[in-house]
Amino acid sequence: MKQQRPLLLARSIVKSFGPTSVLKGFDLSIAAGEVHAFLGGNGAGKSTFIKIISGQHERDSGTLEFDGRELGGSSVSPVDTGAIAVVNQELALLPHLSVAENIAMPRLHRATGIYSERASRAIAVEALSLIDPQFARTSVGRLVGDLTLHERQLVEIARSLGSGAKLLLLDEPTANLTAAETGRLFAVIRRLISETNLAVLFVSHRMREIRQIADVCTIIRDGKTAVDRSPLDAITDREIVDFMGQSGEPDQRAEAQADEAIHVRSAAETESPVGDPIIVKLDDIQLEIGPGAVIGLAGAPTGPSALIEALTGIAGKTQWDIKRKGAFVKYSGPSAAARAGVGYISGDRANKGILATLPIIDNLMAARRVIERRRIARNEEIKQGQSLLDALKIRAGSLWDLPSTLSGGTQQKILVARWLTLKPHLLVLEEPTRGVDIRTKREIYALIRKLAAQGTAVVWWSTEYVELVELCDTVLAFDLSGNPTAVLRHSEVNETNLADATGMAA
Ligand SMILES: Nc1ncnc2c1ncn2[C@@H]1O[C@H](COP(=O)(O)OP(=O)(O)OP(=O)(O)O)[C@@H](O)[C@H]1O
Ligand SMILES: [Mg+2]
Repeated sequence: MKQQRPLLLARSIVKSFGPTSVLKGFDLSIAAGEVHAFLGGNGAGKSTFIKIISGQHERDSGTLEFDGRELGGSSVSPVDTGAIAVVNQELALLPHLSVAENIAMPRLHRATGIYSERASRAIAVEALSLIDPQFARTSVGRLVGDLTLHERQLVEIARSLGSGAKLLLLDEPTANLTAAETGRLFAVIRRLISETNLAVLFVSHRMREIRQIADVCTIIRDGKTAVDRSPLDAITDREIVDFMGQSGEPDQRAEAQADEAIHVRSAAETESPVGDPIIVKLDDIQLEIGPGAVIGLAGAPTGPSALIEALTGIAGKTQWDIKRKGAFVKYSGPSAAARAGVGYISGDRANKGILATLPIIDNLMAARRVIERRRIARNEEIKQGQSLLDALKIRAGSLWDLPSTLSGGTQQKILVARWLTLKPHLLVLEEPTRGVDIRTKREIYALIRKLAAQGTAVVWWSTEYVELVELCDTVLAFDLSGNPTAVLRHSEVNETNLADATGMAA
């Protein structure tokens, strides 16, 4: 490999949050012109390190050089000059401002400090066009608060793709994107690298993507560098997973705990017997969602979202014809759906999933409280909460910590945990493994399979075809305009058919 002076050089970085020691002498170096995959299990410290580089956290000790200068202290931060650009894992857009304002504000501030509507729109259109020209034309005037999670992710990325950055920090930018959008993002990254010698630090738990885009990888484990700048060609997936280590092979004790946690009886279990299939129909597409089935939804977000909103009582109006036991099914809202035995895990973790101001225990018990509509004894809640933490190997200080102290993937596990004890007759999941590391993904698959084996019908929307192929008996595919195009069954569920039916290459 070419010997160059690193653009970023981090040595012996140490960072703790109170008693939690996260980085324990971590080293990483990034060269100009490379895509550097930054890998590690959930809670390993990737986002923490990115926030240290981008000045959102202070390191306790260690040296950090960027472009030949020490970072931190009183000097002007490269983030403020635009030399370092960052896309954080949890998006940081202002919902009451327009797309144009969100993209342009930071840059206008740098140039003149004067806000111009026209200039903002031009900047925003240019930036968004890099990833999605059509979205650029239609979205600049819209309020960010009205966008879907998926659209917000595109806006956040566009904001970072401005001119002038030498280092781009991308903390799971593709977690909410379809394969097609990810492909466009990668094309932009490659172009910027060839034109400007940009360096990219890229966090993702999607192995295939990492191999598509990254040149080298650094793996963090137990707060230290487990693998330092290995070329990706020189390391196998298996080795990567082994180096990430962390939760260890799924151990039998945890499996037993998971069984116990799932089998906890609740009122809902008796009230929402499994058994009757749900029939969903639109034009000539018909799908039976029977007990124990794991049904995948694939394609651009519009189609799956519309069906999910209909199934979970979010949509007031729907084109879908949904019946159970011959009668139309329609709920007045998500709580009514929950009480009728329909579980829902939103893909928009930050806005529609995690209750940010409430401790972990309340987050774990939220669905049960809504369904049972009674006061559940505190002791019972604590016991169940603790057994869920153990079963899912959720690393949290205590049940009274706030979710903001948990890593992104760990927050996702909390959302899944919410429904495990309730045995809904239908569980609707939007990207439930978003941001979840490879090992933990397998644990979540196993948990969902167990629920299905007990009779819960599962509807699973994923933008990752591999996941749908691994998990689903049947997949309903949608085209780019959101129309259902095909129902694939059993051996038909493969990546080629999914790409054909959705109009989106994998
Ligand atoms: N503000 C905070 N207060 C307390 N603890 C925190 C805080 N932020 C992060 N942590 C802890 O630091 C550890 C590392 O978290 P971090 O978010 O950096 O992990 P990560 O590698 O990005 O994981 P993921 O893949 O799930 O995103 C976790 O144990 C987390 O609970
Ligand atoms: Mg993270």
